[in-house]
Amino acid sequence: MALSVVIGAQWGDEGKGKIIDYLSATSDYVIRFHGGNNAGHTVINKFGKFALHLVPSGIFHPKTKVIIGNGVIIDLQVLLEEIEMLKKCKIKLENKLFISPRCHLIMPYHKLLDSLYEKAKGKNKTGTTGRGIGPTYSDKVSYNGIRMVDLIDRKSFSEKLKVQLLIKNKILKTLGAKQLSQKNIEKIFSNYREKIKSHVREPFSLIQNAIKNKQNILLEGAQGTLLDNDWGTYPFVTGSTTLTGGINAGAGIPVNKIDNIIGITKAYTTRVGEGPFPTELSNEVGKKLRTVGGEFGATTGRPRRCGWLDIELLKFACYINEFTQLAITKLDVLDSFPEIKICTHYTLGGKKVNYFDGDTSFLSKIKPIYKTLKGWNKPTKGITKYKDLPLPAKQYLKEIEELTKVKIKYISTGPKRDEIIKI
Ligand code: IMP
Repeated sequence: MALSVVIGAQWGDEGKGKIIDYLSATSDYVIRFHGGNNAGHTVINKFGKFALHLVPSGIFHPKTKVIIGNGVIIDLQVLLEEIEMLKKCKIKLENKLFISPRCHLIMPYHKLLDSLYEKAKGKNKTGTTGRGIGPTYSDKVSYNGIRMVDLIDRKSFSEKLKVQLLIKNKILKTLGAKQLSQKNIEKIFSNYREKIKSHVREPFSLIQNAIKNKQNILLEGAQGTLLDNDWGTYPFVTGSTTLTGGINAGAGIPVNKIDNIIGITKAYTTRVGEGPFPTELSNEVGKKLRTVGGEFGATTGRPRRCGWLDIELLKFACYINEFTQLAITKLDVLDSFPEIKICTHYTLGGKKVNYFDGDTSFLSKIKPIYKTLKGWNKPTKGITKYKDLPLPAKQYLKEIEELTKVKIKYISTGPKRDEIIKI
């Protein structure tokens, strides 16, 4: 397998956790390189059902080491809760979970600012997960962040926090929010420091050696291509680079070391939060997709918006990420649909247009053009061999391959680890 990257090809929630869990069985390292606990990767295995927000999904495999790379932002309360939960399930973490000292911390004021910004934007809000993601990344970029390395050094943490509270309390006051106390935050974070410090270690040489020794490395993308801060549907995006290239800045790995880039897409499309969604179905079909697919956020529990598969967007994701293979998830959700539509392209005023031609208001004007395919009306749930799929399901998958020109390598037919077809 060598060095593989898993990237969401849509607006997140593509089922990356399941594919990563499956692939990490043969991985020496699983590394996260961006995002924070806005991600929620659901993993079902012999230990139970888990929604992991920060710890890379490879943690369940006894020989796999996991790294939270420097591009990830960390809410220590959430990370420590996750660590506790894993320890309760007797999952070993010592010498197995490494956290980069360069990771920025999500501070209490970041979460407050996230909700205050949303409130101020009113009906134009982004619909964030409320986890403080945008404000933490903006502090990182404007050199106001507090990092894991600062937490470990009590004096540095105290000094940096003092400056930040001077600024942040002024903003909070202006926006009518409560003031934060240095003493309280320091007390809470002192406790965090003791619990987390054994895991904080610069992973750069660990990763370099693993690459040199041709060990198997899996990079775990979070969110999805269309939530990328630059190439997504801005401002309805997240704060990080969600694309393949993000592994360079977010984990210190040169992109030319990559062997496989696996794009994950559902067999249909979903989105949480606000923003354009050309193939959204605000009708009974959309409702059925949500119910059958269990489309409620793993992080916030919000109902997801649902629609048909959008090939125009998938083609863009294939190109910008240079996917070498695709994994199609939740094929079984389509089992009971008499017909299945696939959006092949967009038009505007009768002319063919592309996703990247315009901004969000442009995307709300374009017309998605569909091709209708026959449904299979047969259960595919749990199928593990391609030859056992009904013919119309095979035709649907062929159509996706032909339109995107990328080979489908994995087809997920249920939430469990072994409900998967490998081609
Ligand atoms: P934030 O990342 O919490 O700032 O939210 C920004 C946008 O990204 C919102 O539309 C969220 O719903 C969306 N988002 C963030 N993380 C995820 C995810 O893991 N899956 C799906 N959507 C997400």
